[in-house]
Amino acid sequence: MFHMPKFEKIWLAIGTGSLVLFLLVTGVMAVAMGLNPPDGLATTIEPDQVEAQAPFDHPGLEQIGPNEYKATILSYAFGYDPNTITIPVGSTVHFEVTTKDVVHGLHVPGTPTNLMLVPGHIAEYSQTFNEPGEFLFLCHEYCGIGHELMYGKIIVED
Ligand code: CUA
Repeated sequence: MFHMPKFEKIWLAIGTGSLVLFLLVTGVMAVAMGLNPPDGLATTIEPDQVEAQAPFDHPGLEQIGPNEYKATILSYAFGYDPNTITIPVGSTVHFEVTTKDVVHGLHVPGTPTNLMLVPGHIAEYSQTFNEPGEFLFLCHEYCGIGHELMYGKIIVED
């Protein structure tokens, strides 16, 4: 055993101790929270087969009621399919989104729509668009070189 100065030992102990504490805290939180990121990701799907499975074999916008739409969106590096959605003002959009490769996000700035897209999970959120205009949705999880170019558009028509 080589000699180690006292302060190095103390700092090493503090470093090791905080690492162990961090791992404990994240581990306990993961178990307590069911290992799921937020945004209602309870539904699972095989990430490498998403395009063969409903509803992601036919991504797009579907009217499911008066002023109600289901938006099935498949994200990938580096884009969304579809990347433009057009709805009448006052519509409620039920987003159903997944990724076929790495972690992405779908955020509509200025609205509560803020989804984390994790491979194997379907993220769901419903949002009513009461103002006409164009809303960007963009990837807010760093996903690689094309991250900054990963966005789409929601057109709310008057
Ligand atoms: Cu996809 Cu960042």
